[in-house]
Amino acid sequence: MTSATPLPMLGGLTAAEFLRDYWQKKPLLIRQAIPNFESPIDADELAGLALEDEVESRLILEHGERPWELRRGPFAEDEFAKLPEKDWTLLVQAVDQFVPEVAELLEHFRFLPSWRVDDVMISFAAPGGGVGPHYDNYDVFLLQGQGRRHWKVGQKCDADSPRLDHADLRILADFQQTEEWTLEPGDMLYLPPGIAHFGVALDDCLTYSIGFRAPSAAEVVTHYTDFIGQFLTDEERYTDADAKPAIDPHQITPDAVARLRRMLNEQLNDDRLLLSWFGQFMTEPRYPELVAGAELSEEEFLDSLEQGAVLIRNPSARLAWADVESDLLLFASGQSRLLPGKLRELVVLVCSAEALHIDNLGPWLGDEDGQSMVWQLVLQGSLGFADEE
Ligand code: SIN
Ligand code: CO
Repeated sequence: MTSATPLPMLGGLTAAEFLRDYWQKKPLLIRQAIPNFESPIDADELAGLALEDEVESRLILEHGERPWELRRGPFAEDEFAKLPEKDWTLLVQAVDQFVPEVAELLEHFRFLPSWRVDDVMISFAAPGGGVGPHYDNYDVFLLQGQGRRHWKVGQKCDADSPRLDHADLRILADFQQTEEWTLEPGDMLYLPPGIAHFGVALDDCLTYSIGFRAPSAAEVVTHYTDFIGQFLTDEERYTDADAKPAIDPHQITPDAVARLRRMLNEQLNDDRLLLSWFGQFMTEPRYPELVAGAELSEEEFLDSLEQGAVLIRNPSARLAWADVESDLLLFASGQSRLLPGKLRELVVLVCSAEALHIDNLGPWLGDEDGQSMVWQLVLQGSLGFADEE
């Protein structure tokens, strides 16, 4: 596949056309993005996930104890039995980490960087259910999984857009509809950040939200400055050698601000440090506790592979890589490692292969750096041996 191949998933647009005309710009409705799509998970399985401690879930009841009541999971089984027949939604975050067939859907989005992908949230709504008119700060593809949902799309919003006085939900007080569609299983709606939208279930309805992450400017500034702060010594300080005599000693002069600006620019202009921080930040797992390392020696690791064991990516792990001159940086679940450039193909393989085994890893296991890299990923928990069936 090249960027010039028309993709049925994008309604026949090429990835390049979609990125040029729609991504981050305007909504796109794609009928039968995944023809004859059959949801790999049903409402009962989704509710089952919402019982689990490690899974993030929410219930929204339009006519609950108060309008748009929000309840947070994990839920007890009998809570579902007590729900009304209509007008509620159950939302379960990051289902891709728990259901491999849901993770497979992400293969359709490989024309976007995987470090931009956040998660696949799945909602189940009883007829009439929805989460109210709102906007999100991230791009989302809303894939209809089961039943029909009526989507209304509205104005571009921002932090100043009026909202209902609601402690937990950011429901818009004013919705100016521009378009509306009914989505059937396999249909998909792409929405850029900031566009008001409002989906209402017409039947029992499953909707998949393939959501993307983009750090806020506040996150970049606070996290990056914290990161570089660790490498600075107490001796590195504001300096004012060659300052002019003060005219008024209480005045902060433009010269002082210019010195400060130079100091900041010097600290902030290291692209290599910026890359190191960014890769770590963007690969931080949503559930770090699910990226638990294994304890095994390099020898045990090699023996297992030689005996036919298969390594798979931990579905909670996040991987990315970057060139750094002739070397590489591999980012794995919030950590980074500098590697020699000769491992490029291995890094690409490890990041994208469905499974790693003696056949595809074979040639790399003779290489000390290659072998150690894969072993370290197992120790760290980003890769793990598949359970034998
Ligand atoms: C939903 O699936 O009900 C909500 C998705 C969204 O509007 O972001
Ligand atoms: Co939304």
